[in-house]
Amino acid sequence: MDKFRIIGGVPLTGEIWVSGAKNSALPTMAAALLTSEPVLLENVPNVRDIRTMAQLLDYEGVSVEFHDHTMRLQAAEIRRPEAPYEIVRTMRASALVLGPLVARTGRARVSLPGGCAIGARPINLHLAGLQQLGAHIEQVHGYIEATAPNGLKGAFIHFDRITVTGTEDLMMAAVLAEGETILENAAREPEVVDLAQLLTKMGAQIEGAGTSTIRIRGVSRLHGATHRIIPDRIEAGTYLIAGAITRGELCVRGCVPEHVAALTAKLRQAGVEIRQPTPDTLCVRVPGLLHSVDVTTEEYPGFATDLQAQYMALMTQAHGIAIITETIFENRFMHALELARMGANIRVEGRQAIVAGPTQLTGAAVIASDLRASASLVLAGLVAKGETIVDRIYHIERGYENIEHKLRSVGARIERIRG
Ligand code: EPU
Repeated sequence: MDKFRIIGGVPLTGEIWVSGAKNSALPTMAAALLTSEPVLLENVPNVRDIRTMAQLLDYEGVSVEFHDHTMRLQAAEIRRPEAPYEIVRTMRASALVLGPLVARTGRARVSLPGGCAIGARPINLHLAGLQQLGAHIEQVHGYIEATAPNGLKGAFIHFDRITVTGTEDLMMAAVLAEGETILENAAREPEVVDLAQLLTKMGAQIEGAGTSTIRIRGVSRLHGATHRIIPDRIEAGTYLIAGAITRGELCVRGCVPEHVAALTAKLRQAGVEIRQPTPDTLCVRVPGLLHSVDVTTEEYPGFATDLQAQYMALMTQAHGIAIITETIFENRFMHALELARMGANIRVEGRQAIVAGPTQLTGAAVIASDLRASASLVLAGLVAKGETIVDRIYHIERGYENIEHKLRSVGARIERIRG
């Protein structure tokens, strides 16, 4: 398994370009199942989760071509409306094929995801919604079998709690359902809006994406479309934190500043100077001391759970006590223990992590447990004294395109050790 070797202490200076959003590319790829015509996606990040989704769609009979960040998908015919355990196990976002498969073919057989490093991650809300749209759901041998031989029917669906992929999955199911569907307490993430934009280009009738009420009027068929994926706000946020933690002067190019507003507000409070020289560029610099600032993760537009681990690494360098509260996933503090091995002073109490800083981190051998946790360990390594070895970096490759090249281009001493 490959590892990263990082020698800390270099302030990162220069600019980094952001790739397309993984969490937008995943549902838009699944949307290609809804039509027999080609769907062309641009700005698709070349990361492992995208390749896994391509593999899943290929298994189902979709032709997938992926060159130079452009992906052409065509589901002329769906051979197997299934998502096997071997694929769902490695990527829970595979559940995103459920809604489009039932909508297009009237049936789907999708493995249940099971547990994961950050929490239970059930899909009960996807299933309850599909049932309301008229699908019959059965659970057999660890698989969900959904059938709707006479098609789906529009319904009023109120989500018990906000779910991002659940909203996306049901939006894709509802676009081909007969009549009107209303999704209440829907997720408002930019990725939901991006998916709605693609679906609209494909001929769907959707109103309200980006608000908590989405109205969908079903149509009988959708056609092909071309769509450019939005920039990855979590990648952008990770590099803004990289600039701040190393006290460098780093510009993040090609981002949507509004999508990282909850993070930049916290960074400013912490003493980070943030400039926006162009509409899609943010630059960070730390002119004085860094101060501890509490954070609570929330659904968008709140502070993203996907930036919590990276923010925790930053707080180890700030003066004072920061209380970090995780409200979205129940088990998303695995990085705290690894950061503590590097010298951080962090106490975890249930859903809160209390970080006392600043502490001089020292390089150590650490293990990445999930995608964002591994990003936080890389950030810690960039500021730690001496050598940090981050093991199991396949986690980071799920969602960060060329991270070592991007970081090296702004001065970081990071290299891959093949093994
Ligand atoms: N939940 C349920 N039942 C469901 C669905 C969700 O109880 O049927 C719970 C989850 O267990 C969790 C909460 O609701 O406690 C929110 O989960 P959500 O469904 O919103 O998460 P997700 O859609 O599975 C997406 C991102 C995650 C990101 C979360 C939260 C994709 C492909 N994944 O996951 O991204 O953390 O939203 O913003 O969009 C990542 O990129 O590293 C990542 C984990």
